Amino acid sequence: MFKMGVYASIFSFIGKEKQMKQIRLDRYLTDTGVGTRSEVKNIIRKGQITVNNVTVKKPDIKIDPNTDVVSYLGKELVYSEFHYYMLHKPAGVLSVTEDKKQETVLDLLKGVSAKNLFPVGRLDKDTEGLLLITDDGTLAHNLLSPKKHVDKTYYLIADGKVEDEDMKLLCEGVDIGEEKKTLPAEAVLKSYDMVNNRSELLLTIREGKFHQIKRMMEAVGKPVLYLKRLSMGSLVLDEKLEKGCFRELTIEEVSKLKEFN
Ligand code: URA
Repeated sequence: MFKMGVYASIFSFIGKEKQMKQIRLDRYLTDTGVGTRSEVKNIIRKGQITVNNVTVKKPDIKIDPNTDVVSYLGKELVYSEFHYYMLHKPAGVLSVTEDKKQETVLDLLKGVSAKNLFPVGRLDKDTEGLLLITDDGTLAHNLLSPKKHVDKTYYLIADGKVEDEDMKLLCEGVDIGEEKKTLPAEAVLKSYDMVNNRSELLLTIREGKFHQIKRMMEAVGKPVLYLKRLSMGSLVLDEKLEKGCFRELTIEEVSKLKEFN
């Protein structure tokens, strides 16, 4: 059920993406982040927008993002059909697009006017760290596809002393109650806190089964006490981003993510 929902929404995005060519000026401006639909209508009426150096006053004129030069108050705009945000997800927030009662990761993207954004994959409510939020269905599909084996690295604190044999099991594959064992993973033991009997680990997995990290650690008898995602493919959590904060991905980060596919 969970997977079906995620994939259905992704495929609907892929369809939309292919159709797009000429778009209305107001849509162009909202996509570019100039403002909300009503704000950009005002901006256009005030004569603050030029298209190919000519002032335009109609929000519904058609723009070809590949050839037309659109400027706002004399500054040339760069059109991006899709939007990409890195969120440092805090614990206590749901990785869904909407919820009637609880705060969602999209609620944290304050001031972002792009529509159709969704989180690429889910982190559990109590998991922190890197979450990519986008409206680019193709990229999301490729990152989530079980065939692509995108690396995801997590930092975790486990209850108990993770022994050599646990490390071997984690690396070679463990039985988490699925048809097959987990795929080989990379595990690095960072430290063991004897006083509190806790182990710190880095674990890199190449698949994304439901609650996978927690289930892997349960399987070796060292349950997760704290979990944080540090990276997904080439995308690494920006250390400068405080918990609950977000920023746009750089052009380099977006193109590296796309290179992978
Ligand atoms: N594995 C888990 O168990 N939880 C997450 O949130 C992510 C990976």
